[in-house]
Amino acid sequence: MTTVRLNSADPVSIDTDALIVGFRSGQDGPVPAVGAQALGSAFGGKLAASLDAVGFTGKAGELAKLPTFGSITAPLLVAVGLGDSPDLEALRRAAGAGVRSVAGQSKAALALPADTAEEAEAVALGGLLGAYTFSRYRTDGDQKAPVAELTVLSGQGEAVAERASVLAESVALVRDLVNTPPSDLWPARFAELAEQEGGKAGLTVEVLDERQLKEDGYGGLIGVGQGSSNPPRLVRLSYSHPEASKTLAFVGKGITFDSGGLSLKPSASMDWMKSDMGGAGAVLGALIGIARLGLPVNAIGYLCLAENLPSGTAQRPSDVIHSYSGKTVEVLDTDAEGRLVLMDGIARAAEDRPDLIVDVATLTGAQIVSLGWRTAGVMANDDAVRELVVEAAGAAGEGAWGMPLPEELRKGLDSAVADIANLQPERWGSMLAAGIFLKEFVPDGVRWAHIDMAGPAYNKGEPYGYIPKGGTGAFTRTLIGVAERHASI
Ligand code: BES
Ligand code: MN
Ligand code: ZN
Repeated sequence: MTTVRLNSADPVSIDTDALIVGFRSGQDGPVPAVGAQALGSAFGGKLAASLDAVGFTGKAGELAKLPTFGSITAPLLVAVGLGDSPDLEALRRAAGAGVRSVAGQSKAALALPADTAEEAEAVALGGLLGAYTFSRYRTDGDQKAPVAELTVLSGQGEAVAERASVLAESVALVRDLVNTPPSDLWPARFAELAEQEGGKAGLTVEVLDERQLKEDGYGGLIGVGQGSSNPPRLVRLSYSHPEASKTLAFVGKGITFDSGGLSLKPSASMDWMKSDMGGAGAVLGALIGIARLGLPVNAIGYLCLAENLPSGTAQRPSDVIHSYSGKTVEVLDTDAEGRLVLMDGIARAAEDRPDLIVDVATLTGAQIVSLGWRTAGVMANDDAVRELVVEAAGAAGEGAWGMPLPEELRKGLDSAVADIANLQPERWGSMLAAGIFLKEFVPDGVRWAHIDMAGPAYNKGEPYGYIPKGGTGAFTRTLIGVAERHASI
């Protein structure tokens, strides 16, 4: 695990393997950003011109490496672009890309704008998130080790480094869980890890096994999990603060592998479905983060864990489930399983009488069709709640966009035999129809928001900014932000 500290050392003389330096894009080429100006004279005034010569302009996303030939103590200078008017997310991304590019080195220092606590936190956090690697399954030694020690050049105090580390460790845990193959992460194993990691952070953790789930009437979790020899679990994590006036509940979709069940997915859509537990991961990571930061709220997390496989015991299209809420659900498509585990989780969460329920899920391919890989859809039964979640995501630098829940879509979920069907006959508006389905399980008077992050949870492409390939840990930090915001209203 990478460590970070803050230090107001001089970038010219700091003892490090690589110095990561921020540049803005100016009219006539790259301009050293705050924190980097001291380097101008060390390179005889030629640094910006040299970068210009290698085609570096300072635009966001750009990165250039230069040897320093002894002009400064660090042997390697990594210039990162911040764009023309950098915000906190530009700092996180530039720091992340810079640190990622020096994997294999043991020490790196970051000379980016870090005068304020917010800026210093953004640089530290971006750096830590960018340092993440997942090498547990590599024996070939091909993958470089993450940078061990980061130094953010800033006059800010250690509290900033501590907060950034808590956030980064929460996200790293989620990324690890998402990246872990389903052969090593099934519902009971996930529950065990939640007990272990949640326990370390001081959370109270309760686990319902398949026998208790059956007894208590969690028909959705049982139905989805019954095709697998790895039975389902429902994990309840709780954190309370003596001065809290608000109680929040988070509910995460935790399908440790989604084959589609008897409504089997084609191979090309299946090979990354180990990531279908990203919502439960985010809820676990957020609860741990909230507890470690000591936020003044009460927070409860539910992890709805099941493995969706086809077998002789699997649920069939046309089966009818008795959900925890009492409503009956006709399963028209076993691949629309996320909503079946969430409906039980949401109904259970409502019994805690929270002020707000937020569920988070890799729920529909339609989210990716509508908003792409990097922007989650946020739906809610209350405009202010939807805005709160979108705003928290914006502040965390996570893409999110408010989406409607049009009443007329409810009719498409009518079932010929049960109270509701889990699928509408047409594919148009499927992300919203899934939201409408979930809303049916939120009791009247309970404020609720739903985050569909099918795209953002997993990066199938190349790394960018502080986002690695594979599990991203998406929405862990947003949920922590929701708790921070909710604590103060
Ligand atoms: N886990 C998938 C959704 C998904 C798709 C997540 C792509 C991440 C990337 C979900 O369980 C699913 O299969 N949804 C179906 C629903 C359909 C049958 C109504 C879908 O979106 O195709
Ligand atoms: Mn599915
Ligand atoms: Zn799924």
